[in-house]
Amino acid sequence: MQNEKITIFDTTLRDGEQSPGCSMYLDEKVEMARQLERLGVDVIEAGFPIASEGDFAAVKAVSSEVTNATVAALGRAMEADVAKAGEALEKARHSRIHTFIATSDIHLEYKLKKTRNEVFEMTRRAVKQASGLADEVEFSAEDATRTDIDFLCEILDAAVDSGASVLNIPDTVGYMLPNEYAAVIASVKERVVRDRDVTISVHCHNDLGLAVAGTLAALEAGARQVECTINGIGERAGNAALEEVIMAVNVRSEKLPFIHNIDATLLYPTSQLLSSFISFGVQPNKAIVGRNAFAHEAGIHQHGVLSNPLCYEIMTPESVGVPQNDIVLGKHSGRHALVSRLQSLGYKFEADEVSELYQRFSALADKKKNIYDQDLLALIPQTMPTAIAA
Ligand code: KIV
Ligand code: ZN
Repeated sequence: MQNEKITIFDTTLRDGEQSPGCSMYLDEKVEMARQLERLGVDVIEAGFPIASEGDFAAVKAVSSEVTNATVAALGRAMEADVAKAGEALEKARHSRIHTFIATSDIHLEYKLKKTRNEVFEMTRRAVKQASGLADEVEFSAEDATRTDIDFLCEILDAAVDSGASVLNIPDTVGYMLPNEYAAVIASVKERVVRDRDVTISVHCHNDLGLAVAGTLAALEAGARQVECTINGIGERAGNAALEEVIMAVNVRSEKLPFIHNIDATLLYPTSQLLSSFISFGVQPNKAIVGRNAFAHEAGIHQHGVLSNPLCYEIMTPESVGVPQNDIVLGKHSGRHALVSRLQSLGYKFEADEVSELYQRFSALADKKKNIYDQDLLALIPQTMPTAIAA
């Protein structure tokens, strides 16, 4: 049997950006979108246009910039939201309106103050309206995993009948154990999708640290679109990390027989680029892109790795684009070492820019013993015309 393709839907610029410490300027969002496209992401969710003028402008700018990827804009299942999303997407080569409404009783009673019937009707109206404004429509049942399964299936069915081709089943509060989530996805596949050309999407939050595990379990149960973010940023404890999902699929392909368009060697540069835009870096022990992800400290581990990297490494640093760091940068390092490290991170500079950067680097090296890639990236001023190597 041929391996099935999965769609990678990146929401770094929407669910990621809306979380504390992650706001980005317009030019940073556009730069990030370019990098996501290079990385091979299929769908870039660029913002929530009705939420702010900034989000509207970001979706508009990303729509004009991106060529291959589909650009998605989020909107509640309300007329004004959907209209604004459609307007922001006008220039997109491939557009998607992503409309959502909460479906769990707890959200209906306390947040929306609406009946199931009202939510059902709002879904039908919003999806229908969105179908006339974008190439495709995705519907999300917010808090799907705490929704009565019969009502969930009913509303998803109505969304398909009204024109949605992607059904997202978010674990909005990160509550599901992977096997429970897989069971919900299997029910939706059997009861709603049946033989129709509809994609099931997964969207997991990481409140219990299970977002990636839930995502992989959902893929095994029939989901074919993954919603994720670079470095796992997102509301509260974040979303499923794109780099972790991709490397799980790549490393364990015998168990997860899926194909995707992601160029894994761009995972690390993309993670670094994002860190340089937001107000915090990657935790050192973060899987795949953390500073220590490939560092071997214990003597016994070092001996094993030197004899054969397979002893302790299930993937190589190069496979995810981590540069070879044999040169340690510190206060005795010269310009060449600095330029070479920046080049390996994908940046090129003019001679006068190098002088300015070197001054900044020397000042930092006087204060800090070890200079990491994150530190170097933080040295680059926003105004400097940098280039990320394709
Ligand atoms: O977590 C969530 O439920 C969401 C929806 C808007 C898709 O982000
Ligand atoms: Zn979310």
